[in-house]
Amino acid sequence: MFSRPVTELIQARYSCRSYRPVPVPEEARSALDLFLREQTHGPFGTPLRLVFLAATQSSSAGLRGLGTYGIIRHPAGFVIGLVHNGPVALEDVGHALELSVLRATDLDLGTCWLGGTFQRSNFAARAAVRQDETLAAVIAVGVIADNVSWVDRALRLGAGSISRLAWQRLYFDGRYGVPLSREAAGGYAQVLDMARLAPSASNKQPWRVVRSGGDWHLYLRRTPGYRERSALLGLPDLQRVDIGIFTCHWELTARQLGLRGRWETVSADRVPEAAGAEYRLSWVG
Ligand SMILES: Cc1cc2nc3c(=O)[nH]c(=O)nc-3n(C[C@H](O)[C@H](O)[C@H](O)COP(=O)(O)O)c2cc1C
Repeated sequence: MFSRPVTELIQARYSCRSYRPVPVPEEARSALDLFLREQTHGPFGTPLRLVFLAATQSSSAGLRGLGTYGIIRHPAGFVIGLVHNGPVALEDVGHALELSVLRATDLDLGTCWLGGTFQRSNFAARAAVRQDETLAAVIAVGVIADNVSWVDRALRLGAGSISRLAWQRLYFDGRYGVPLSREAAGGYAQVLDMARLAPSASNKQPWRVVRSGGDWHLYLRRTPGYRERSALLGLPDLQRVDIGIFTCHWELTARQLGLRGRWETVSADRVPEAAGAEYRLSWVG
């Protein structure tokens, strides 16, 4: 899937909001395009489409009207994530779009997830969204600029982008709230490190995990008011997209390390209780 170890790609990725005013080089463009066409379903089975709109050598007309409210400087293209409506649609499209982010990183391109700061109706029209589909998010893509714009710098500081919550606040041992030590995580420590580097909407990092025996139970700890505010703005439930991104980093790292497992929904009696968090899925070894 990638030409480099995924752990390298995960560590190289960041939200890049300043690009050089040049198109994506032809070889990278067609490689990314091919990759996107192959993503027809999410890992949990929902049909989806990743539509790539890119400027060409001769014209940037293809991107006309696709505004980002000045957040992204000189984007060379966008990947638009459309998913068939369904119970795990947003997790599925989050996972698939993050695969495309890592593939773009592998092709030495910069990327930035956009859930809110883009002209949604124009993108929806250009991608011809169908009634049974949701436009979940967009990925800006381009050749990374040598110097970073002030908007970029301000946003990275503002969202606390470089920082992540302490491991002890994300990962628990046996019971929700009981911190998991690195030693206790054993062979999974690097999986947890890489999952923690997942991008998330407003860097809220709403994922929590409880290890219980050989199972790793994944929960969504919602940011109070976030879903309601998003709905008012006509945005989808972006924290469920975040869950899909997290499962993507987790699974790819586990596979690289040769750790066997898969995502499943297990019966309620196997899942530790977690006040204030919603159970989503379990990684079962
Ligand atoms: C689902 C989702 C939606 C996002 N929406 C936006 C957005 O609308 N505008 C923006 O500038 N950044 C957006 N981001 C980028 C996050 O702010 C960024 O991933 C986070 O601050 C972590 O920083 P990093 O990606 O550099 O590690 C979004 C990220 C995700 C995962």
